[in-house]
Amino acid sequence: MCGIVGYIGPRNVKNVVVGGLAKLEYRGYDSAGIAAIDNGNIKVVKSVGRLANLEAKLADSPVDGQAAIGHTRWATHGKPSDENAHPHQDCSGRFAIVHNGIVENYLSLREELVAAGHEFRSETDTEVVAHLIEEMYNGDLFQTMIAVGKRIRGAYALVVIAKDHPDEMIAIRKASPMIIGLGDKENFVASDIPAILEYTRDIYVMEDGEMAILRRDGVECFTLNGEPVSKEVYRVTWDAVSAERGGYPHFMLKEIHEQPKAVRDTLRGRVSDDLNRVTLSEIGLDEEQIRNIDRIHIVACGTSWHAGLVGKVAIEQFARIPVDVEIASEYRYADPIATENTLIIAITQSGETADTLAAMREMKKRGLRVLAITNVVGSSAAREADSVIVTWAGPEIAVASTKAYTTQLAALYLLAVHFGQVRGQIDEATAHEMIEALDNLPQVVEAVLDTAPQIESFAQRYAHAHDTFFIGRGIDYAVSLEGALKLKEISYIHAEAYAAGELKHGTLALITDGVPVVAIAMQPDLYEKTVSNIVEVKARGAFVLALTWVGNEDLEKAVDEVIYLPKTLPALAPMAAVIPLQLLAYYAAVARGNDVDKPRNLAKSVTVE
Ligand code: F6R
Repeated sequence: MCGIVGYIGPRNVKNVVVGGLAKLEYRGYDSAGIAAIDNGNIKVVKSVGRLANLEAKLADSPVDGQAAIGHTRWATHGKPSDENAHPHQDCSGRFAIVHNGIVENYLSLREELVAAGHEFRSETDTEVVAHLIEEMYNGDLFQTMIAVGKRIRGAYALVVIAKDHPDEMIAIRKASPMIIGLGDKENFVASDIPAILEYTRDIYVMEDGEMAILRRDGVECFTLNGEPVSKEVYRVTWDAVSAERGGYPHFMLKEIHEQPKAVRDTLRGRVSDDLNRVTLSEIGLDEEQIRNIDRIHIVACGTSWHAGLVGKVAIEQFARIPVDVEIASEYRYADPIATENTLIIAITQSGETADTLAAMREMKKRGLRVLAITNVVGSSAAREADSVIVTWAGPEIAVASTKAYTTQLAALYLLAVHFGQVRGQIDEATAHEMIEALDNLPQVVEAVLDTAPQIESFAQRYAHAHDTFFIGRGIDYAVSLEGALKLKEISYIHAEAYAAGELKHGTLALITDGVPVVAIAMQPDLYEKTVSNIVEVKARGAFVLALTWVGNEDLEKAVDEVIYLPKTLPALAPMAAVIPLQLLAYYAAVARGNDVDKPRNLAKSVTVE
């Protein structure tokens, strides 16, 4: 959560910092602020609300200077307000800091600092750091920050500027992500790459437990004890446009439409030209190790967890390895039972989700092998896992995850087929059929996107609903969960997903006249069973929208509206079925006038527990 940008150089510091913050608003957006060393003093301007509020304030009270730091906040300690917005300052106003993460021992530090005479202006954990710097400052900012770093516990990325050190800024990273952008006579620091891409493509990825001094003419990196660290320059190959909206009214719609390409990119190079084999050398497991896996634990949160539920079905079906799919925030405290041959698969789009990272770390501590499936190459998950399958979805800006999910599915399908082939669980003909179907998925997704006008019309008619139910059986139930989450998070319509056969055990009581039910009937083996459940809800007055294959036209007699999807293998059906559900959530949110890309109370990257 929270986005940080820092800049030192000759450009207009306000433009660089505020422009960078605009690219990071997906990390949090309940308040924003900027601090610059302006004519020998630190000037701070901050405002509750979106970045536009800060810009309005800056129009009346401009900042300029040679070094500046900025922040967009997603509140953890203290409500969103002007006072709680970052940057925070000490009593004398000689220092300003921005911070992402949590200072866990802030209450005891605050007591100590209050006793020493410090007056606090905010309720944040961050402000203690500003006062601590003031308290410990000995004329040497770098040494002071090493000492301050030893006093604070928690996960944080922070950047500080000081009135007495106008030619430098110091960045510290402990667990929360941070990168440094390298320019010519100018340098940048930020929570994420899109913030600085306009100015440079050369970056240092700061590792956990590193700090850096940024000056106009260079950047030096150190451990938290001040020992120099030599860094390799990482060249970013994304184009800046891919982090922009590209003509769509919202990032979410753009990202939904990017899915054919994203899935194609994720499959690229991982299936042989003859469509007979999957190659996943990056997982770093030889054939014997794959044969020895006796169980898989998938850990993830939210949409990534839903991808894991689909992955379980595919891996069990094709590789016959038992899979448990666990919510990371539960798993990390559950004392899970695992053998030495249990493979942990952590699925995380951002690679920075605190609970997923904690679950990974816990299992690594126990000596288990962790494979991460992530979309962010330099992320913590990618760096801490034993091996990584990168999904090539490109940056996902909308808070509601779409292309990250479908590329996670693609990665899991590849893994399932690969494991199945190595373990001799699928014969050559089945493998070929599977890989051919995988290779065809981008076209399937493309064709499903053509259903958008039909979904839009349905969404407009049902956007006033209070409650919606999503039902399906087997793998269709896993997709129902994702459909319900998507609708909840952006349209704010209450939505529940049920295994279709489970409804009659209680929930059927909620089905009354006109309640919308979205039924997914994509599994040939379970089709008739699902239709029976559909008939049950229809008999109670539900308005049923069904998703099924082209060819199941008989369903029209049982439901109110059908969306026909192109045929693929049943195991791959989630890739097709999820697209109309994403579109449904999107158009319902638009019809209700919601802020689609930035739903209330949510942030893109959940880097606190
Ligand atoms: C919902 C959504 C979230 C994330 C979850 C995990 O649309 O995006 O549920 O899936 O916060 O995030 P990652 O995958 O980054 O670990």
